[in-house]
Amino acid sequence: MILFSKSVEIINRFQHPSGAYVACPHFDNYQFSWLRDGSFIAYAMDVAGKFESASKFHRWVNDVLIRYAYKVDRIELAIKNGTALTDKDFLFTRYTLDGLEDLEEDGWGNFQYDGYGTWLWALNEHLNLTGDLGLMKEAQDQILLVVKYLTLVWPLPSYDCWEEHPELLHTYSIAAVYGGLKAVLSMVEMGLQNADIAEIKRTLAAMKNFIDSFGTGEQGYLKHISPQHIKNPMRSSGIDSSLLGLAIPFGMYELDNPVMRETIQTIKANLTAPDGGIHRYLGDTYYGGGEWILLTAWLGWVEFLSGDRNLAADRLSWIETQADENGWLPEQVDHHLLAPEFLQVWEQKWGQSATPLLWSHALYIVLYQAMNK
Ligand code: BGC
Repeated sequence: MILFSKSVEIINRFQHPSGAYVACPHFDNYQFSWLRDGSFIAYAMDVAGKFESASKFHRWVNDVLIRYAYKVDRIELAIKNGTALTDKDFLFTRYTLDGLEDLEEDGWGNFQYDGYGTWLWALNEHLNLTGDLGLMKEAQDQILLVVKYLTLVWPLPSYDCWEEHPELLHTYSIAAVYGGLKAVLSMVEMGLQNADIAEIKRTLAAMKNFIDSFGTGEQGYLKHISPQHIKNPMRSSGIDSSLLGLAIPFGMYELDNPVMRETIQTIKANLTAPDGGIHRYLGDTYYGGGEWILLTAWLGWVEFLSGDRNLAADRLSWIETQADENGWLPEQVDHHLLAPEFLQVWEQKWGQSATPLLWSHALYIVLYQAMNK
């Protein structure tokens, strides 16, 4: 079976009856559904024509949001009164497959808001593909709740998409909110009621202005922005492959925007391993800092949309050679490690790198479908 069909099968097989997508069924710490991973997985299932699967995930998120909606008013009040908020006060980055907060694991770092922007983006893609206005109506209050939440929290320091650096602001996370809020404007055109269009537009403009003012450096967009440095921004917070998301899929900047082009060049020049796989960032020590399948597919997607079909085809074939005998793709591979001394440390702590990682299969599907349309 080709890896495309295999990937769809794997995602279907490991989607919980609740609709949640487990991050990885065979890795203890990933027995949860992350909104970030899940939203990309739902998008992949949509582009593969598996609308039912994506719809179940979106309805699962909707139920989670109904359950935890009360938190958003508390957050609003605390921000207004200047009361300190703890990590657990925010909407969580991941939930159990039954849609509950994981209150046992202390110190996971739950305040990561990018997944909520990604959810709005993926939901809009689903609605565009399926025309399921019933789902939009069902989720209407929760969509508006997430808009309110993101409008409140995007200017706060939070964990980044790699669950690190809670002391900083992150360009990728802000871009995910940008993509999500833009998606809501498109839902308004489809009939979403009661959205404050003027406020959404104000927030979009504020985020863009923020990144334009503080988020650019010598080699393209910056990975982090320090709250202390807003008057005197860090000019080199390092490059990170997740910055691809600023253009694709979140559309904060066009692919031909000069700073975006420079960012992509910097990612390629600094984070490509000799065999064509992509690292997250220099200095990554997680499992020795290997090459990430999903990021390699993401770069292939960007290359394909930039007209570099051959480069994209190379990334696709590279990924295909990384699948194991079951057709499973891992989170990362260890052929060219940035910090080899850390591989054993992580393997001893948590076992082999997570396989199959559903998010890896998802981005592979997205690249495959883009190239085979
Ligand atoms: C990654 C996250 C991801 C999670 C589940 C973590 O190691 O840093 O981006 O959401 O795994 O796949």
